Amino acid sequence: MSWAPVASEAPAPAAAGTWIVLADAGGICEALVDRLRADGHTCVCIARTGDTPGEDSRENNAQAEAIAAAVAAARTALAPLTGTVFGWGLDVAAPPGPFSPGQVEAARGLLALAGVLPACSLGPLWIATRGAVAVGGSDVPDARDARDARDARDARDARDARDARDARDAPDALDAVDAPGAAALWGMGRVLGREQPDAAPRLVDLDPAGSVVANAAQLHRALTAIDRGEDQLAARGDRMLGLRLHRTRADRAHTLALAADAGYLVTGGLGRLGLAVAEWLVARGARHVILVARSRPGEEAARRIAALEAQGARVAVASADVGDLAALREAIAAAGVPALRGVIHAAGQAHQALLAGEPWQDFAQVLGAKAAGAWNLHELTRDQPLDFFVMFSSIAGLLGFGGMGSYAAANSYLDALAAHRRARGLPALSVAWGLWAQDLVPALAAHGARVGLVPFATAGGLAALEALIARGATHAVVASVDWPRHLQDRGGDVPPLLRDLRDLRETMAAPPSAHAAAADRPLLSSLSGLSDQDLADRLAAHVAGTASETLGYPRYHALPRQRGLFDLGFDSLLAMDLRRRLARDFGRAFPATLVFDHPTIERLAAHLASCLADELCARPTAPALERPQVRAAVPAPASGGSRPASGFAARRCRADRDRRHRLPVPGRRRRSRHVLAAPARRPRRDLRDGAV
Ligand SMILES: NC(=O)c1ccc[n+]([C@@H]2O[C@H](COP(=O)([O-])OP(=O)(O)OC[C@H]3O[C@@H](n4cnc5c(N)ncnc54)[C@H](OP(=O)(O)O)[C@@H]3O)[C@@H](O)[C@H]2O)c1
Repeated sequence: MSWAPVASEAPAPAAAGTWIVLADAGGICEALVDRLRADGHTCVCIARTGDTPGEDSRENNAQAEAIAAAVAAARTALAPLTGTVFGWGLDVAAPPGPFSPGQVEAARGLLALAGVLPACSLGPLWIATRGAVAVGGSDVPDARDARDARDARDARDARDARDARDARDAPDALDAVDAPGAAALWGMGRVLGREQPDAAPRLVDLDPAGSVVANAAQLHRALTAIDRGEDQLAARGDRMLGLRLHRTRADRAHTLALAADAGYLVTGGLGRLGLAVAEWLVARGARHVILVARSRPGEEAARRIAALEAQGARVAVASADVGDLAALREAIAAAGVPALRGVIHAAGQAHQALLAGEPWQDFAQVLGAKAAGAWNLHELTRDQPLDFFVMFSSIAGLLGFGGMGSYAAANSYLDALAAHRRARGLPALSVAWGLWAQDLVPALAAHGARVGLVPFATAGGLAALEALIARGATHAVVASVDWPRHLQDRGGDVPPLLRDLRDLRETMAAPPSAHAAAADRPLLSSLSGLSDQDLADRLAAHVAGTASETLGYPRYHALPRQRGLFDLGFDSLLAMDLRRRLARDFGRAFPATLVFDHPTIERLAAHLASCLADELCARPTAPALERPQVRAAVPAPASGGSRPASGFAARRCRADRDRRHRLPVPGRRRRSRHVLAAPARRPRRDLRDGAV
């Protein structure tokens, strides 16, 4: 990871607009509002209520609901909207653990906003934090190298230089992360960008050393003068930096020698990776290992533990919820191992849900195992001379996979906590893993394949872990990624985060818009000028084929068109995937709730027809030469003659024209509904041919 300087643009002359500002209590947003008003904008501020969350803060949703109502009211009252600033993350500070009052209020507030977004467009949505990400040490020169390399078209030299300096500068020198709790908002923002592209979330971390006035100036600059493509920014002094991912060469193999008279703790120790890590620890000389989990070992785990004990190690299984500080302390004490010298935090769970609909309780549970667990381990061991403190994070926190908002939030917290610890002189490493092949379950493999993650061998993962510990790294991504596949999952976009990746240079050589253009033109052209029935049929066939592919069937696999997609095997992730595919095919964004709101093939096709009507009537009919391809897939009408040209799209064109002239269009809605509700009567051949 590195931070590259990004250029400021001259602020565009501001057309007066409206900003919704969810203001912090510290005054940064207030000063920002002064600046925006001086630019001629109107600002609607929503203050934090500052309500103390209930005794169990994870269960108190009332505040989030109030925020949602306030934002919705502000949105309907004013137009046009220029954007929204979510500033509550600026109040997240001490104590730096998760579930501090400021952190809970900010995360719940953003969750509430995510729920409002599908109903009313509030984007672009700026999410501001302060001191939530680490920028510094070898990071910035890294970025300079990458830029130089691009200019000189000599990436290899730059990579070698970077690797040499990495080795020289290790351990990483990072600036303080005072508010790791706010980093959870970064994970949420990244996922929100995938789930609700219309919201176009942008993240900006303000300088923790800056004054209120300086921070407000930084935020104002980010809002008005930074390249609009940049979506992950850090302001430090007068520098504005954009987050970039770089590939580094794997370090030479290291072999750690662990102390036989010390204790080593593995949370999630009975899980897929936990047991593999325990075996690796013992292979490196550990003789006292504690495995923490809430459950007891199953048959397979017991067998592997017995094998470790046969090698001379003592393995204690401690039952505790890592999110419960007292229980964790007690369990470690009860294990009766020598003083700890190493901690591997691999406890965690994921919960699949769109942020727009995720209840706070579910969100908090995911944060509890990973983030609260990490913080509790930090609290319990901060005075012990550890050799390593490793947290198992995930690339999902960085790339932001749809449906994994709480998981991304928890992993982003781990990354920030590593920097927080390191800045205090404590060992820390957060590894954002890709997909391990170890005991890979089919559902995970399928999800990985969809987003471009290629499973890597356990031995490779452990070797990377060992090398990173030996090098004193603080944060690293270890993943095997099929980047073209990943970009496909993103709809062809190359986000700034990935711009400096050597692997993507060639893909980036083609302008991003070319992907969309290539994808959308033939399909939309083939739809223009069709009769209502043809349009409905073609769209239903296309949706059916795409839904089949999303489920892993061939395109021609016949799915019942009136049955609920969720009864046919869809879940929230697959619903996201279907939406993404349709967005790619039609070259436009659809709300995250698309499949939830229109949960059958027939209803989805009908909705697409109404969404696309305006565009279809504005688009010229496909030239004659393109038509035979389409016609071949569609049986001729019974009469054998051509269909009437007065299709739904054409009628919509007329209706739009009439509306412009303020002429009433009697019966328009009724006719449209009738046409669109007509059941698709396509023979199966349409699906096989992938009609549109
Ligand atoms: N496997 C991968 O490819 C991969 C990729 C990226 C990141 N990671 C991360 O690596 C870590 C390990 O992954 P894994 O594949 O081994 O997962 P796993 O097989 O699901 O194991 C996770 C373990 O965590 C324990 N756990 C969950 N919540 C807990 C809590 N509140 N307190 C105590 N223990 C808890 C579970 O045991 P109990 O239910 O018995 O408590 C389980 O044994 C996770 O943090 C995961 O996010 C894994």
